[in-house]
Amino acid sequence: MNEIIKIRGNRKLNGEVTVSSCKNSAVAILPSVVLASEIVRLYDVPEIEDVKVLVKLLELLNVKVEESDDDELTIDPTRIANVDLLDEDVMKLRASYYFMGALLGRFRHVKMYSPGGCNLGPRPIDLHLKGFEALGATISQEGNIIELNAEELVGDDIYLDFASVGATINIMLAACFATGRTTIENAAKEPEIIDLSSMLNKMGAQIRGAGTSRITIDGVSRLKGCIHDIIPDRIEAGTYIIAAAACGQDVIIKNVIPQHIEALLSKLEDMGVKLMQGPDFVRVLESDDLKPVDIITQPFPGFATDLQQPLTALLTKANGDSHIEETIYLERFKHCAELNKMGANIEFETGNSHIHGPTPLKGTDIFATDLRCGASLVIAGLMAEGETNIHNAYHIYRGYDSIVDKLKALGADIQ
Ligand code: EPZ
Repeated sequence: MNEIIKIRGNRKLNGEVTVSSCKNSAVAILPSVVLASEIVRLYDVPEIEDVKVLVKLLELLNVKVEESDDDELTIDPTRIANVDLLDEDVMKLRASYYFMGALLGRFRHVKMYSPGGCNLGPRPIDLHLKGFEALGATISQEGNIIELNAEELVGDDIYLDFASVGATINIMLAACFATGRTTIENAAKEPEIIDLSSMLNKMGAQIRGAGTSRITIDGVSRLKGCIHDIIPDRIEAGTYIIAAAACGQDVIIKNVIPQHIEALLSKLEDMGVKLMQGPDFVRVLESDDLKPVDIITQPFPGFATDLQQPLTALLTKANGDSHIEETIYLERFKHCAELNKMGANIEFETGNSHIHGPTPLKGTDIFATDLRCGASLVIAGLMAEGETNIHNAYHIYRGYDSIVDKLKALGADIQ
């Protein structure tokens, strides 16, 4: 269905917005509950499409999920059944592949569809599969059905050619019950990995080094239940901070861990954005005469690839030429053509974009192609003169909890 977000732009944003819990943590934590032998209680689970799909997949595995009214999930995996996950919901998001590591780790067998998710160019899972094989799994693929089997899972030293977030997490999940020690070298260091590791350790796992490039997992026999509060979403926080820099008069973004977005905050300060950091909030004041900047996306703690698209909208009002070098997803530039329809002047090709500013933006019909592209178009719509219709808004609802209500509360004219 084509849902449309309509924005009448060029209005000042004021007030407070509270960031929800982290999508990319929640989508790893939900499949990981498969490893538990007791009930797991999760607080502050974001109300986003990706979470809803993963809950449906858990229920296919006969895992009971109860939702309380205040974003708390009670998940009961005690009667889990390792049925094949051959449901088209698996294809709705890439993170469904965490069921591979979790079900392999728990049952030494998994059969499911290969993942779907944003079209950001080729998104292989070769590093995930290399890790599973190192632990003793055999892999067979027929069409887009993948099956993993292991007589026994034995810890091993695994080196990742690229510090892949997904591969790091999937290997962690598969190694929880493996015999002996698994070491992941060149592991990703994203905060979501620390969040998942701290939850698994609460359940009795023996994981050390999350957040560094060397993670060890010492296999245990079972995992208990636990209560876990998911960390705030650093990409949602960054998105609202950029929107405030673009159109804000005085905006406070709450439930933020500034350390998770240092690269963004430092670049915004280089641009001349007036912002103040508190222990768990960032305050943005009206900022004009913005300077252009150069960005290179890197794995954490470098500049997040997920934020280069939203930042591109802001860079259209900087006085001069900005350059973005995208090293993670070389084709992550579909937002540029849409912004150019609004009057932006962006040249782009594989791996690079050049934003020539300042260019005033005018509202028109534009199309979201992926989640963070959609976020970029929302910010452009807030900045633009006139009315902007953002089509295929469901991409945006996959990762931004109540984005229309949150922006309305800041004074945006949006529905
Ligand atoms: C996670 O994707 C995030 N998704 C992405 O956020 C984020 O952009 C990305 O990390 C980078 O930070 C979730 O956490 C659900 P990777 P993931 O494995 O795990 C290549 C969003 O908007 N690669 O670190 O898929 C891959 O092609 C989404 O919230 C391999 O070559 O990222 C890519 O070029 C978009 N082989 C690069 O590594 C592999 O086996 C980064 O991938 C795995 C990855």
